[in-house]
Amino acid sequence: MPIHLRAEPGDYAPNVLCPGDPVRAQYIAENFFDSGFRQVNSERGMLGFTGTFEGRPISVQATGMGCPSAGIVFEELIMLGVTRLVRVGTCGGLGDGMAMGDTVIAVAASSDDTTPLRYAAMEGFAPSATFTLAETAARLSRAGDTPVHVGPIVTSGIFYDPDPGTFARWKRLGHLGVEMEASMMYTIAAVKGIEALAIMTVSDLLGESGDTERISDAELKAGVDQMMQLSCAVATS
Ligand code: HPA
Repeated sequence: MPIHLRAEPGDYAPNVLCPGDPVRAQYIAENFFDSGFRQVNSERGMLGFTGTFEGRPISVQATGMGCPSAGIVFEELIMLGVTRLVRVGTCGGLGDGMAMGDTVIAVAASSDDTTPLRYAAMEGFAPSATFTLAETAARLSRAGDTPVHVGPIVTSGIFYDPDPGTFARWKRLGHLGVEMEASMMYTIAAVKGIEALAIMTVSDLLGESGDTERISDAELKAGVDQMMQLSCAVATS
C-alpha cells in the first residue's frame, strides 16, 4: 500500500481521471459514473473513487495543485497498476479566439517548472500526450457543441506569477493554455511507459499584459460538464 493512496492493487481501474480538486473528483463520480461506485482513497483529503462509465471500469483520483503534489499521486497510481492517466481540469486560455468554457486538448505540455525536467533527468525534453488518446479526444469532440482547441500548453509552477510578461512569451510560442500538472503527468507517463492525456476547460482568459478575466461559476459548470463527458469517453475508449 503506497503512502498517500491508501489502496491495494486492483482498487483502481486501469484508466483513471485525474482532477486537481478533490471536490471535483467526488462530483465526477456522483454525476458521471454509473451508480454503485466506491471510495478508494481519502488520505489527506485526496479523494479517489472507482466505478464504471457506461459499463466500463473507470476511476477518478484527485491530484492536488502543482507538479510535486500531482507527481506523488501519478507515481502511486502507477504502483497500483494504472496504465492510463487522463488529467481533467481547468486552464487559463492563451489562444486567440478562445472563449471561457471552451475545451483544450493538450498534445504537449512545456515545463515552466523544474520538477518534470528533474524527473526526466534530461536538460531538454518534450512532455507529450499519447497520440492515440489525443486523436480519439479530437474525433469525439467533433460530435459535441463546445469549441475544442488542440495544441501545446504550458505547465507552470507559479499561479501568481510576478512577471507580467510570462503569458505573452508562451503565447508567442503557440501555447494555448496554462495549468499546473500536465507536464508532470506526461513526463512520468513517458518514464513509466503508460498512456496520458490532459483535457481542460478554459476557466479564465489571460491577457498579454498579465490581466485575467475569470469565468462565472455557472459558465464553469457547463464547460466542465461538457469536458467531463468527453473525458470519460476518452478514458474508457
Ligand atoms: N494559471 C495556472 N493554472 C491555471 C490557471 C492559470 O491562470 N487557470 C486555471 N488553472
